[in-house]
Amino acid sequence: MVRIDEATKQKIIDAADIVDVVSDYVRLKRRGSGYIGLCPFHNERTPSFSVSKSKGMCKCFSCGKGGGPVSFIMEIEQVNFPDALKILAKKYGIEIEERELTPEEKKAASERESILALNEYALQQFERNLTKTQEGVNIGLAYFRERGINDAMIKRFRLGYALEDRDSFYKKAISAGYNPEFLEKTGLCIKNERDEWRDRFRERVIFPIFSLSGKVIAFGGRTLRTDKSLAKYVNSPESSVYKKNRELYGIYQAKVAISKKDKCILVEGYMDVISMHQAGIENVVASSGTSLTTGQINLIHRFTENITVIYDSDPAGIKASLRGIDMLLADGMKVKVLLLPEGEDPDSFSQSHSASEVEQYIAENESDFVQFKTRVLLDGTETDPIARSRAITDIVNTIAVIPDMILRTIYIGECARTLGINETQLTLQVNKQMAQRIEKDSKEKEREKRLRNTGLKSEETADPSTEPDNTPSSRTTSAPQTQENPLEPYEKEILRYAIKYGAMPLGNLLDDDGNLSPMNVIDYIRHEMANDAIEFISPHYRLTFQTAVETINDNWTTDFDAFNEGLRKKLSRIRQEGENDIRVTAKDMAEIKRKETELNQKIEETSKNLTAEFSEMYLAKILTSADADIVRQIATDLVNTKYTLSKIHTKYSKVETERDRLADLVPMAIFNLKGAIIRQRILSIQKQIRDLYASPQLDIDAIKPLLTEQKELEDMKKELARYLGERTIVPRT
Ligand code: CTP
Ligand code: MN
Repeated sequence: MVRIDEATKQKIIDAADIVDVVSDYVRLKRRGSGYIGLCPFHNERTPSFSVSKSKGMCKCFSCGKGGGPVSFIMEIEQVNFPDALKILAKKYGIEIEERELTPEEKKAASERESILALNEYALQQFERNLTKTQEGVNIGLAYFRERGINDAMIKRFRLGYALEDRDSFYKKAISAGYNPEFLEKTGLCIKNERDEWRDRFRERVIFPIFSLSGKVIAFGGRTLRTDKSLAKYVNSPESSVYKKNRELYGIYQAKVAISKKDKCILVEGYMDVISMHQAGIENVVASSGTSLTTGQINLIHRFTENITVIYDSDPAGIKASLRGIDMLLADGMKVKVLLLPEGEDPDSFSQSHSASEVEQYIAENESDFVQFKTRVLLDGTETDPIARSRAITDIVNTIAVIPDMILRTIYIGECARTLGINETQLTLQVNKQMAQRIEKDSKEKEREKRLRNTGLKSEETADPSTEPDNTPSSRTTSAPQTQENPLEPYEKEILRYAIKYGAMPLGNLLDDDGNLSPMNVIDYIRHEMANDAIEFISPHYRLTFQTAVETINDNWTTDFDAFNEGLRKKLSRIRQEGENDIRVTAKDMAEIKRKETELNQKIEETSKNLTAEFSEMYLAKILTSADADIVRQIATDLVNTKYTLSKIHTKYSKVETERDRLADLVPMAIFNLKGAIIRQRILSIQKQIRDLYASPQLDIDAIKPLLTEQKELEDMKKELARYLGERTIVPRT
């Protein structure tokens, strides 16, 4: 495992030219000031994928995917952040400098590497056994043939065979120099009570399990005997490279198809995945017989939000697995289910039908999960009111986990019809259920906070940036929000200014002593928010803002100096060339004078433009390549947000851009947030007052202070309305 040091990372990001990087995957044509091509992330016939060299960004205007060079590589190669950096480093011939690892990291890294190396060795042995040994061919290969698996699939999934002999693998591995410590840690071999080494996998066909990036992290071995006393499958134990609940069988082979089709099909077993692939349906993964975990759901969610779960049509099985699906809904996924004809599983079905028949069957029979669940639960409750009301409660609970409000509303409407009950009634029940859950969640958070404060729990869990590498990213747009944050749009607007223009000078601030001090956009925002003790409520925005502030604090001065140094050189080159030119071409003194003035103007203009451009792109460039997934996504999203205010044509018919109006717009955004906060508080006080009035004994003493507070807030609101007019922002000239 390579840790890329900061300096190298920066070198890579600096070297990566977006047009150049994208061109490796997409044929680009010039269009206006940028480039355009067919989007590599979805199928299209007219180009909507645009690339801006100056912004260092790309974006598809149809499917919305895109970002800086690193995000683009992550998306198209389906790799994580460090791996994307490695790919770019290779492209630009940048050698990756390894950061000095701490002793613990060294130990962990070398353990991981040793385990992975041993797994790869074992895999090669198993593959070899299958085709190059008599026993493997007669038993293992014959079995796969009988199950209808062809050579291409055997290769693709790297299927293998473990010999019958009780320690043949152990002996081979030892003589090849592998350390027994890792034989044990990988679970490939086991030491028994008599201290004898035994192979875990014996006389079984082998299904290797791959990580997202294609490394062998575990194995599943299926016995070929029908002997009931033998476990049908034996699997590798967990190790530092294999955490069962974060992996999905087939994800490595399926990821490209999942991404391309924007849909994932979920089946149960190894054979189901392989047979579906063989039939040409490649966006398939297996949960390996257990119910889904959040880790697995997040893994899928990185590639798509559409999932179709295939059930075999055994009614008991269906009811049992309904519950697991709620987790998918809570994660913001769009879930469909598909029942196969009785007696079929995906393996048998895809073996006995052509690819197009399978596709057609899926298209015609998959149905929306909530509707499906409603029908299943309702079935047989016609004459049993208690069972019926239990079913309704269950459905209400399911709808209540869906984070998207619009989707929830649609489901409520549909289910009300199916259930034959009043829609308002159902809405009320769903809301009640949601409120209960939110309360429960916040109580839990409260409790965790208390535990943390008393030092019983580490701070770590509170910080979204400390997520380990391979836990999938939470998404900005679809992350389930336990509580709606009414201030979100206001916070977002401010954050957008901070990221798009953070380093740009905003104006001068007049302090109480009458001194002018220059400040940039981000300073201004920070200052204003701190003055009123306002923080971003959204933890993701807070983190992104913090990262922006830190970036400016830590790097801006140095980077700006370096930029100015380069600018100075550039300008002096322009001057030199210009003066040479004048010397050669000018015919008299007057022309020299005129040309000199022109040259000076040109230099001044260039200097101004380049400086503005550098400052404007500065934070966006860094943050859209930030390490933390969430920061990178939010930054990318905000930088891509179109300028929503209508452009203003001045009398000089010059189009005023947002950039020209920052001195108005940024204070306005802050003002709006403050206004919203006050409105929020007023509403909450009013509610408290109403509740008190509605209570059986009217408690005037309790109401009085609330009324006072309400009055104070109303005053603040009025004062705030004058806020902009009296603000001592002196626009720069
Ligand atoms: N499984 C397991 N351990 C078991 C049984 C099942 O890990 N003892 C997992 C395997 O990943 C298996 C999946 O659950 O692929 C589904 O189990 P099952 O339907 O019994 O197996 P199939 O894969 O369908 O195998 P086959 O078709 O060869 O019977
Ligand atoms: Mn099966």
